[in-house]
Amino acid sequence: MSVAEITTISTTLHYFKPPPDGSKPWVETNLQTGEHSSNVSQGSSKQVIIENVRGHESEYDLDTTGFLFLEHESQCKNFEDEATIKDVYYKESIGLIKKVTGANRVVVFHHAIRKGGPQLLVGPNRPLPPSDRVHSDHTPEDAIKLVHALPQIPNELVPHLLKHRFQIINIWRPINHPAIESPLTLCDYRSIDLEKDLVATTVKFPDYTMETFRVNYNPGHKWKYQRNMRPDEVVFLKCFDSRMDGKTAILAPHTAFVDPTTPEGAPLRESIELRALVFYDDLPEEA
Ligand code: OGA
Ligand code: FE
Repeated sequence: MSVAEITTISTTLHYFKPPPDGSKPWVETNLQTGEHSSNVSQGSSKQVIIENVRGHESEYDLDTTGFLFLEHESQCKNFEDEATIKDVYYKESIGLIKKVTGANRVVVFHHAIRKGGPQLLVGPNRPLPPSDRVHSDHTPEDAIKLVHALPQIPNELVPHLLKHRFQIINIWRPINHPAIESPLTLCDYRSIDLEKDLVATTVKFPDYTMETFRVNYNPGHKWKYQRNMRPDEVVFLKCFDSRMDGKTAILAPHTAFVDPTTPEGAPLRESIELRALVFYDDLPEEA
């Protein structure tokens, strides 16, 4: 069967469930030791329909839906090696983001490798598991905090940068083989209710604290995925946009999901996601 023939999937996604005592949700996690505590549970499991966008990719873009599908072959052939990722993949991704968005300045600040499967152990340099809950990576406060905090951005430039439009964009890419098991699904920005759906959540790591959004269930959410996404395909997903005019997409909630049509023996999903601050500040990048 061709990948375009399966048009919709019915599956379960894990949404936010508030802490019983009504307090602000928090998570404390140590990726090296695996220690994890939180006042929120995995959440509230809801049945949803996810639509396969294969053949209709051009209906999605960063400012309307909050995500964009592209074909792009990477020059990086070794995602095992941190130095190669930073040297080859970061550079290539900066060029790609500038080309696609027209931004004049792009600062990559993080990447993560993920691998599916239950046998996973946490520890130094181990891949993360696929995400098991609906979320968006940064609240607006967190995005602004990042501009102030990143060592790659000179302090004296921050006021200038914050006066102009900026975004956070992730590039998500399958590695080694198509992402058949545990694919990524994205929620169309137009189907979310900014006031009601997003719940700011504190996430504490040993060396820093950030704030992400968990997401309340809303039966109107429109979920999309690109079936059997290949390593020469990427999805750009927006996690923040300073252009908050109500119309322009500012984020796209997302999560991995269990695809009940995954063929037996399909390899575990492997992926890389890269996070970048994307600036439209009209100054040459060296400034
Ligand atoms: C991301 C993300 C989840 C996954 O790229 O921001 O949340 O399972 N990915 O790959
Ligand atoms: Fe994410």
